[in-house]
Amino acid sequence: MIKLSRRSFLNGLAGTTAAAALMSVPNVPALGAVSKVTSIIAKPGTTGLFGADGNMTDVWAYGGEVPGPVLRVKQGETLKVDLQNELPQKTTIHWHGLRIKNEMDGVPFLTQKPVGIGQRFTYDFNIQDAGTYWYHPHVNTSEQVGRGLHGALIVEEQDPVQVDREVVWVLDDWRIQKDGAIAPFGGLHDAAHAGRYGNVVTINGKTGTPFKVRSGERIRLRLINAANARIFGLEFEGHEPWRIAIDGHPVTPAKTGTGPIVIAPGGRIDLVIDMTAKAGETFKIRDRYHNRFAYTLALIAYSDQKPIRSKPLEAPKKMAANPVPFPQLGSAERHEMIFQGGAMGGLRGATYKGKEMGLRELARMGMVWAVNGEVIPPIEEDDIGKPMVSLKKGSSHILRWRNDTAFAHPIHMHGHSFHLISRNGTKLFAPLIMDTVLIAPKEYVDVAFVADNPGDWALHCHILEHAKSGMMGFVRVG
Ligand code: C2O
Ligand code: CU
Repeated sequence: MIKLSRRSFLNGLAGTTAAAALMSVPNVPALGAVSKVTSIIAKPGTTGLFGADGNMTDVWAYGGEVPGPVLRVKQGETLKVDLQNELPQKTTIHWHGLRIKNEMDGVPFLTQKPVGIGQRFTYDFNIQDAGTYWYHPHVNTSEQVGRGLHGALIVEEQDPVQVDREVVWVLDDWRIQKDGAIAPFGGLHDAAHAGRYGNVVTINGKTGTPFKVRSGERIRLRLINAANARIFGLEFEGHEPWRIAIDGHPVTPAKTGTGPIVIAPGGRIDLVIDMTAKAGETFKIRDRYHNRFAYTLALIAYSDQKPIRSKPLEAPKKMAANPVPFPQLGSAERHEMIFQGGAMGGLRGATYKGKEMGLRELARMGMVWAVNGEVIPPIEEDDIGKPMVSLKKGSSHILRWRNDTAFAHPIHMHGHSFHLISRNGTKLFAPLIMDTVLIAPKEYVDVAFVADNPGDWALHCHILEHAKSGMMGFVRVG
C-alpha cells in the first residue's frame, strides 16, 4: 500500500489550473471540473499534545497525526478520498457542512455500511460551496472524534479575500489523565449535562504554541471547533478581527466587537485579523465563553521585524455567496422540533420505541434526551427508525428548533445549509447561512431551507455525547 506523507499529500493538491480557467462565472462552479485524489488511513498513533518533553498520548488519527491532513480543493472540483480503516473498530468519514450526494455523506446505515476493520471505502463527490469545512467519523462518534479523528477541509473561493497569509486552526478539547492517556469514554453524566468537556485545549493538536505574527500583516484565520462538547468564546486582546464567514459561507465583513467570538462544536468561523500592534509585542487570546473558567488559549507573539506596511488596509471585501437557494418563506411548510430532557430539564418521561417510559428507565438505557416527547432510537443496521419529517424534493421549509432544556445545543443538519432567519421570534437583519446553529437554553430559532438534496439526512446535536443519547434523528428528502 502506498502511504502519502503529509508533504506529498499537500503537493498532490497543488497546481489546479484547469479548474480556475473554467470557473470564470462568479457563483457558478464548474461542476466536476477536476478531481483531487488522495488516500487517508485512519489508524492509531502517538502524539505529544504538550510538546516534545511532555507526556505522550495515544490517539486515533487520520494518517496517525492530529489533526489529520488539511484537504484543500477549489470550489467546483471533485474530491476523491480512499479511506483505509486500520482502527480497531468500524468507521466512516462525514464531510461536515458540505452539500454532497447522499451516498457519500458517511452516516452508518443511513447512507452507507460502516467501513469494517481492515476495509476500504472510496468517497467521491463534487464540491459546490467554497469555505471552511471539516471531516470526521460518524461511527461511535464521541469516542472516535474524541480520540483525535478529524481534519480541516478547505474549499478555496474563486475570488478569495485578499490577505498576506492564511492560517487554519482546528480547536480541540481533550480529557487527559495524569499519565497522558485519554480518559475512558462513556458515562451518563456527560450525556445528561454539557457533554464531554476536557482539561486540555489544543490548537492543531498542540498546547502552548504561540501565534507568531508580523506587524502590519493581514491574516485570514479559519477556526474549526472539532471538540466533542466545548463551546469556545474567543477574545483577541488588542485586536479587532473581522468576521468574514460563518460555517464556510461569506458574510458582510464586520468587526466582531467587544463580545467573545462564539464557536460551538461543529461550527466554523473565518476571521480577518489586522496585526496592528508593534514589533516585539505580545497579546493574549482568551476563551471566556464560560466566564468563570476563562483561560488563555494562546499568545499572539509579534516578531521583531519592521511592519510590512505603513498604512492600515481598507475593510476586507465581501466574498461571493455560495449557490445556496433561498426558500419561499410565504409558502414554506412549518415544522417544530422541541428538544427536551437532560439534567435539570424537567422532563418526566417520553415515548421510546412506542412505549411510554420514565426518565430513570430511559437513563438506564443510556437515553436522556427527547424531541417532541419522543426519544429517537439510535440508527441501526436492521432498523433506521422513522424520519423526524419527510420533505418533498424542491419544497421550502421552516423548522422551528426550540431548546426546552437547561443546556445549549449546537444543532446540525446534513446535506443542506439552512438560513437562520430568526431567534426567539426576532428576525435577523440579514439571514445567516449555516449548517450548525447554537441554541441557548429556553431559546428557539427558525431556520429555513429548500429541501433540494434527496436522501436521508442526519439531524443532530453536535455535542457528541448528546447525539448518542437521544439527540440524533434524520430528515427524509425525496
Ligand atoms: Cu459534524 Cu453529523 O456531523
Ligand atoms: Cu446537545
